[in-house]
Amino acid sequence: MNNNISRKQFLQYTASAGAAALLSSLEGFAAEARQQKLRVAIIGCGSVSNRYIPHLQSSLFIEIVSLCDIKPERAEAQNKQYNVGAKTYPHIDAMLKGAPFDMMVTLTDMQEHGRLNKQALLAGRHVWSEKPMANTYAEGKALLDLAKQKKLRIWGAPAVVNSPQFAFMNKCIQEGKLGKLASAHGQYGHTGPTWSAFFYEKGGGSMPDLGVYNMATLTALLGPAKSVMAMLSIVKPERTVDDKGTVKVEAEDNAHILMDHGNGVISHVMCGFNFFDPHGHEAGNQSLHSIQIFGDKGNMRLIGYDWETNGVILDDSWDQAPKLLSTDKGGYVWQEGATKVGESLINKTEPVINVEHALHVLEVIEAARKSSATGMKVAMKSGFKWPLM
Ligand SMILES: NC(=O)c1ccc[n+]([C@@H]2O[C@H](COP(=O)([O-])OP(=O)(O)OC[C@H]3O[C@@H](n4cnc5c(N)ncnc54)[C@H](O)[C@@H]3O)[C@@H](O)[C@H]2O)c1
Repeated sequence: MNNNISRKQFLQYTASAGAAALLSSLEGFAAEARQQKLRVAIIGCGSVSNRYIPHLQSSLFIEIVSLCDIKPERAEAQNKQYNVGAKTYPHIDAMLKGAPFDMMVTLTDMQEHGRLNKQALLAGRHVWSEKPMANTYAEGKALLDLAKQKKLRIWGAPAVVNSPQFAFMNKCIQEGKLGKLASAHGQYGHTGPTWSAFFYEKGGGSMPDLGVYNMATLTALLGPAKSVMAMLSIVKPERTVDDKGTVKVEAEDNAHILMDHGNGVISHVMCGFNFFDPHGHEAGNQSLHSIQIFGDKGNMRLIGYDWETNGVILDDSWDQAPKLLSTDKGGYVWQEGATKVGESLINKTEPVINVEHALHVLEVIEAARKSSATGMKVAMKSGFKWPLM
């Protein structure tokens, strides 16, 4: 049996999850419906758009006005499937000249993000970008500088800091429930996407696709990384994917990353495209933990994944059993980032998600590549305001 996640399986799953998100979000916002809506344009109408489109549609503050894909039939198909009623475009140039919009949501191949995000900012649009927001830290920093110069906003996925489980773990740490912090571990993997080659090409890899979630969670909980060491490898030199057939794997499909957060705190992330995990994308029932944090007075385990959270086990007693706490997702879903930042633009509030944090994680990925190639520990330049809340 093939345990990879097929495009068809993912589409089937995302359609039902989208309907649930639509209902719960509509209930939440009904009382506060406003006239003014943020006009959103989506670029990249592949797999992940099946999650983003229904979630954005669930907001009373947002209207999807344009859909764009270099495979134009995909933009048209999504327009029809989700009754979006948007204009569709085969190229970003046409979209920027077409129906007016306020924020671009970038859901294309990872390697295209930096270039497209820059074009949108230059054209005066806010940006929410799937990860990574650029191919290098320098390119990402230049995007932020450009946004600031043009009085625009740019944000990058993931949205892991939005979950109630993140807030709970953050509070436990900040209140000293774990005592003196020492070590943490995060892991995320599956057997790899089967639909598109870009995940395996240069600029792709398991770090920007998967490890990025744990890196975001651990740096947000423990503080910015001061330095990084890593070992990366390619376990399967070739992959067969829907769009290009058999391709050479150029980016790491197996990665171990160590981060030094200062004050003696060290964390470890492992991620890869060769991890058997029957939960895969459909991780709702995962009852095991994927994140652990240890201090000298307690430890915590995040049940599920930081992007699909099912609760937190807190173990801080010598004589009582560990407690399963914070089991309510409170409506959190991993695809909510664009909706939340879009609503923050309309409501003039500041979201928890913060672009300096996304940039910092991008630098961790770059540092890990450098460390693995050279065998050296790599010092980090960037930081972000911490703690986040
Ligand atoms: N699929 C998932 O489960 C998932 C989950 C979370 C995040 N993401 C992220 O979302 C992004 C997209 O992933 P995906 O799985 O949807 O990929 P995909 O291959 O299914 O879709 C990408 C789409 O972008 C289009 N595209 C590429 N370059 C373009 C350009 N220059 N202009 C317009 N369209 C362009 C492609 O034609 C394709 O339709 C990646 O950054 C990925 O890491 C994916």
